[in-house]
Amino acid sequence: MTIITNKEFNVDACSIVSLPKISDPRGNLTFIEGGDHIPFDIERVYYLYDVPGGAERGGHAHKGLHQLIIAMSGSFDVVLDDGFSKKRVHLSRSYNGLYVCPMIWRELDNFSSGSVCMVLASNRYDEEDYFRDYGDFLKAAGVPK
Ligand code: TYD
Repeated sequence: MTIITNKEFNVDACSIVSLPKISDPRGNLTFIEGGDHIPFDIERVYYLYDVPGGAERGGHAHKGLHQLIIAMSGSFDVVLDDGFSKKRVHLSRSYNGLYVCPMIWRELDNFSSGSVCMVLASNRYDEEDYFRDYGDFLKAAGVPK
């Protein structure tokens, strides 16, 4: 049986964005301009920090939210899942961002000590935009039972 996946929102659409880096012996500088370096305007910024060893974050998908995930300090992994395919991405550079499109179940794990995960988001916080149940997500993604 051929499985037709959602062509627009799948793990292949989630990729590393190389952000501008102004190298300087006094310290490097990176900047991000919404709608220019990333494919959405930034409406919200949030960050995870003081993450205890072995902790996992995420465990949900968004219906319409676009995000860019950046390891501002330290490193961690992001596991992306569109219901048909999965991929694990290791983030450790503050000049790289991982673009995550809507309809992707994500888990964040393998946080290094002292790591900081910053997320740029296309909309304000809205619990209605979440799939928090994996079964509900698979159903909405069109995954056959
Ligand atoms: P959640 O998105 O589940 O966190 P993570 O994906 O990092 O594991 O959010 C955790 C809690 O924080 C949840 O109660 C909702 C709240 N929250 C806000 O109030 N505003 C926000 O912008 C975010 C991202 C979460």
